[in-house]
Amino acid sequence: MTSAPELNLTTKASLTSGRNTWHTKAVPGLLPTLVMSDGPHGVRHQGGEGDNLGIGTSTPATCFPTASALASSWNTALLEEVGRALGAEARSLGVHVLLGPGMNIKRSALCGRNFEYFSEDPLLTGHLAAAMVTGIQSRGVAATPKHFAVNNQETDRMRINAQVDERTLREIYLSAFEHVVRAARPWALMSAYNRINGDYASEARWLLTDILRQEWGFDGVVVSDWGAVNDRAASLAAGLDVEMPFSNTDDDVLEAVAAGNLRPAALDDVAARLGRLASRVDLEPGAPVDHQAQHELAHRAASESIVLLKNETALPLAAERPVLVIGELARSPRIQGGGSSRVVPTQVDAPLAHLQAQLAHVQFAEGYTLTPDAPSPGLIAEARHLADEAGAVVVFAGLPNSAESEGFDRAGIELPANQLALLESLRGVEAPVVVVLSAGGIVDVASWDGCAQAIVQTSLLGQAGGRAVADVLTGAVSPSGRLAETIPLALADDPVQLNFPGADGQVLYGEGRFVGYRYFNTGRRPVAYPFGFGLSYTTFAYTDLRIEPAGENRWTARVRVRNTGERAGAEVVQLYLAGRGEDAPAHELAAFAKVFLEPEQSREVELSIEPRAVSRWDARYHRWRIDAGQVQVQVGSSSRDIHLQATIDVRGDGFVPELTPRSTVGEWLDHPRGGDLLRHVLEPLRAGAGASAPELLPLLLQVPLIKLVTWPLGLTREGIDEMCTQANTAGPSSGQ
Ligand code: BGC
Repeated sequence: MTSAPELNLTTKASLTSGRNTWHTKAVPGLLPTLVMSDGPHGVRHQGGEGDNLGIGTSTPATCFPTASALASSWNTALLEEVGRALGAEARSLGVHVLLGPGMNIKRSALCGRNFEYFSEDPLLTGHLAAAMVTGIQSRGVAATPKHFAVNNQETDRMRINAQVDERTLREIYLSAFEHVVRAARPWALMSAYNRINGDYASEARWLLTDILRQEWGFDGVVVSDWGAVNDRAASLAAGLDVEMPFSNTDDDVLEAVAAGNLRPAALDDVAARLGRLASRVDLEPGAPVDHQAQHELAHRAASESIVLLKNETALPLAAERPVLVIGELARSPRIQGGGSSRVVPTQVDAPLAHLQAQLAHVQFAEGYTLTPDAPSPGLIAEARHLADEAGAVVVFAGLPNSAESEGFDRAGIELPANQLALLESLRGVEAPVVVVLSAGGIVDVASWDGCAQAIVQTSLLGQAGGRAVADVLTGAVSPSGRLAETIPLALADDPVQLNFPGADGQVLYGEGRFVGYRYFNTGRRPVAYPFGFGLSYTTFAYTDLRIEPAGENRWTARVRVRNTGERAGAEVVQLYLAGRGEDAPAHELAAFAKVFLEPEQSREVELSIEPRAVSRWDARYHRWRIDAGQVQVQVGSSSRDIHLQATIDVRGDGFVPELTPRSTVGEWLDHPRGGDLLRHVLEPLRAGAGASAPELLPLLLQVPLIKLVTWPLGLTREGIDEMCTQANTAGPSSGQ
């Protein structure tokens, strides 16, 4: 259905909201019902009416690692594979639209939903999300990147007004969405609950039409987050298609049309876009998936998502030594977070059982309870007693379900009190102590780092995570995850916390573009573990960095990476740009690649530096700009472990800004045509007063030209207008 002349207005209005929690409305013979399901790391398919908060049950489905875990893999091919598996499973359940990936930027460590998001970095987020969208859609199921946009907290999420400046919005909060839309062409997208600079995201025409559709070319269906629409007509006028889940306010839409406040064509557009979506997805349910094969992929994905933060020769565990495993989370792993993304897994691997299967001598001590979280002296004493006899101690620590979920933000980043007391009690144990952390967001490690010889960060690994953790601990797999977000020494070190979660319905994004490592690296602040960091059981050497131009403001970097250790392993090669102007972050990720290497094997890794990586958003001219100049390319194993560097010459985009009477003297002098015109006018000043007061010219640089009409330079308003005409029309101005 590409146009909707055959539908009457009432029918068209009714199509703009859902039939119930998970279905769109049908028009017999013209438009089928489409079935939607969460979500980002597993198909939460509910028969019947269902609910969107993860309260009711759903059909068992593979629970893959959450986005926070998958992001640590830094492996786009893996994300695409997981996307294919999600798509196949969705299809097998008759789902046409999968509500994911979640791809908001992790602004604060306290966001309760960080486990559903990838990273603090927009490039990493955008590339991982695009791979996942490609995978899902390859199976005939629409992906729905969410929550568009600036949904970075749960506190007051349905009303909060995020105050964010234009450059930050473009470079940090919209850029991952832009990449996904341009590179993976999602068939659907979900608008967010919150307001942005005063406008509800679900009712903002500048966002849903001007930027999303006109600038980026999105041609899919925008669905609202569940309950995000406040004013039906306003949302339709803004470019939203379907309000979800449903409402009984079709009359509002019809009245708005009758009153001339909503173009009838907006309703035709919705019907046409729903028709396009129906023609893109596979309407017939697919074959049942092989649950065991899905579980194996979930296992592989989990193995690649584990980050080894610290290892003072404690890992891998020696097979012959008796190991004491401590912690309820070893028996009852937390595989995912709470809320709408919660799936009912098809099976769950517990780490304890897999360690027992892989090692000869494993003992277990409970150590703490998940609820309540008050220290239990009896459990701690028992754990300490057994630890004194053990050859190695592995503590499974992490957050209980109650600590992080959709719907509320976290109160802090510390581990629960009973786990901290347990870790303290293990100081001085002779055997090496390994801590395995499981939490969707980051947790503080600095306060107890000294209690452990090794720390393994697992995020929330999904249903097969238990075996994956055992594989890494025993050395069957070398860890290859890297942090997709910084772990600070203390939460208060992060300037975001000065403005989180805001108050009185307002949250000021006062840190601007300096989110995560962009702040910590620029301010040279110490952190516990930096963005991009992760150890391996092997080592890698970098040589032969070569960078060649590959088109206009585009380069290909090649670097040779060798596995110099004795085990197979994978390295995540990271390319950062540095030195991009005084107001730019010290480092910004521009490319990355994961490479698997056998011992002594080496490979040339290719990374491309795209024009966008050397661009900046110009808030005066409301456009992307590429400034000419030299930029440093740094290649390494993390944002703080750079092995090789080189410099590239950026030619710039040749953009010539339009001059106005309010352009400053400096801007006039920098202008290819305006410069000559103004130099001519300023000549008497340079020769006269300028000669005796050399500071006069620099002082003038910041002054808008129009202010000089009162100076004895012979400048008039008319003369300046004439200069503008000459400067702006005397030749082509080119841009991106
Ligand atoms: C969440 C969305 C989810 C929707 C449907 C909302 O509460 O914010 O991410 O897709 O519910 O379950």
